[in-house]
Amino acid sequence: VTPRPAILVNGVPAKHVAADDRGLHYGDGLFETIAVIAGEPRRWMRHMARLESGCARLGIPTPDTGAFLDDARTLCAGRDRAVLKLIVTRGRGGRGYRPPSAPQPTRIAVCSNWPEWPARIADEGARVRYCRMRLGRNPVLAGIKHLSRLEYVLARAEWGNEYDEGLLRDDAGNVVEGTVSNVFAVSRGALYTPDLSQCGVAGIMREAVMEQAQRLGLAVHTRPMTRDDIAQADELLLTNSLHEVWPVTQLEKQHYGVGPLTRRLMESLRHE
Ligand SMILES: Cc1ncc(COP(=O)(O)O)c(C=O)c1O
Repeated sequence: VTPRPAILVNGVPAKHVAADDRGLHYGDGLFETIAVIAGEPRRWMRHMARLESGCARLGIPTPDTGAFLDDARTLCAGRDRAVLKLIVTRGRGGRGYRPPSAPQPTRIAVCSNWPEWPARIADEGARVRYCRMRLGRNPVLAGIKHLSRLEYVLARAEWGNEYDEGLLRDDAGNVVEGTVSNVFAVSRGALYTPDLSQCGVAGIMREAVMEQAQRLGLAVHTRPMTRDDIAQADELLLTNSLHEVWPVTQLEKQHYGVGPLTRRLMESLRHE
């Protein structure tokens, strides 16, 4: 039996990409991290829509999403639970920042094992801290899931296993997101999530939670949020495509309960 490949580069099993790829040199590209359940990528259309809009914003030719779906099926068929990471770079690029006039994007698909988070997090909630690292504001790059992630790498290096996630603020002090998640606060029955027009990644689960909340008749407000707004929240939750919704029960020294609205969202999204 031929072992199933774990990585495809432009549709071909491979372990390497070209050393002159612009993704490696400049972070010139985008990625998606997708949950695979029973062999099928979850929320595929949303992920492809974000990838396509990111490519349009960076001027990278739109990838063939059908070819990506073929990659996904080749890598993930028969896997009960897995993580699929898709990367598009502007391709091989000679020397210098100047983008090639006719870029030939590189398409990379990687399938990995499902991470084993402690069951405690879903049941009892995540333990969260504030990161010292601040996100720089740049509306041109805000929202998209581009490959230039040094701020997040350094933020995640700030702690080990004692916390489940770290919250990031921007250089003006506004709370933006977690290192791998978006954040929602519940106050007096309404949901609030930080505005991402200056920095941060507009998550697929953030979008799914906002739509689900509206279906449940809950008000959702997007606006700049301060540390005080977070401190005064009745409930706090984090969203990410892999773990979906995590309640937060501890943020630094402050404790929150796993609230009714968080439970309602967790339950209803499971059946989405
Ligand atoms: C910085 C950042 N923010 C938010 C998210 C959540 O995005 P999604 O819901 O698309 O998984 C991620 C996911 O990895 C992330 O890295």
